Amino acid sequence: MKKNDSVFNAYSRYYDLLYQDKDYVGETDYLQALLVRHGIALGNLLDFGSGTGKHGRLLAERGYQVHGIERSAEMVSQAALSVGFTCQQGDICTVQLGRTFNAVLSLFHVVSYQVSNDALLSVFARASEHLLSGGLFIFDVWYSPAVYAQRPEVRVKRMADDSVEITRIAEPVIYPNENRVDVNYTVFARDVVTGESSEFTETHPMRHFSIPEIDTLATLCGFELVTAEAFLTGDQPSENTWGVCFVLRKNRS
Ligand SMILES: C[S@@+](CC[C@H](N)C(=O)[O-])C[C@H]1O[C@@H](n2cnc3c(N)ncnc32)[C@H](O)[C@@H]1O
Repeated sequence: MKKNDSVFNAYSRYYDLLYQDKDYVGETDYLQALLVRHGIALGNLLDFGSGTGKHGRLLAERGYQVHGIERSAEMVSQAALSVGFTCQQGDICTVQLGRTFNAVLSLFHVVSYQVSNDALLSVFARASEHLLSGGLFIFDVWYSPAVYAQRPEVRVKRMADDSVEITRIAEPVIYPNENRVDVNYTVFARDVVTGESSEFTETHPMRHFSIPEIDTLATLCGFELVTAEAFLTGDQPSENTWGVCFVLRKNRS
């Protein structure tokens, strides 16, 4: 048995399989509509925490130029490049590309992975540095009212393809005074050809946010809060809304 507690280390190998039921095309429809609604029908996008590049490649197919920054080398190695989509390994707390973009995106709770105030302030500062005046910072995070109302529970997810069967157990530990939930994943993988099994664990610490908290961070870092809405539906956030999408606009200089 191999034990591994680093975030997105061993987990990355099975990421696309674990999320093959995630509707990246529908999410890209939503993101494109959001960008267009806020005046970005074309242009350069920077994807913070780009993972295996699924949003990036789909947005590139729709005419955007997308560059991804991703901390996990394994995720970067799995991200196929395509026309209009590139990515590199890097940390969104420290990255300095020396160029600006029309929008910075950070999708599927990447900002929630930044659990400390220092890390959050760094990410907001890096987003601002990489945006044109008036550019957008768009991200979805876990929403505190929903986390407290629904309380995360133990979940089991099973996925398989031609070569491997995966069982993932997610066991959350709630830290109410830190706005944080540590999700302890145990993943069992069985090679369908050889029958060999392996197991590993990873802890993903997740921070959740209220709208006033993001508004304060935005103001501190030179942004205006434009919208906070339910990711995908655009509904007003409520105790039923786990993922809230924020649109911030960099103050015009
Ligand atoms: C849930 S995945 C989302 C990946 C991708 N955005 C998607 O929608 O499939 C979160 C990703 O954020 C990355 N990440 C978390 N913190 C990061 C940081 N400080 N710098 C760069 N990447 C980070 C992780 O390595 C992981 O790939």
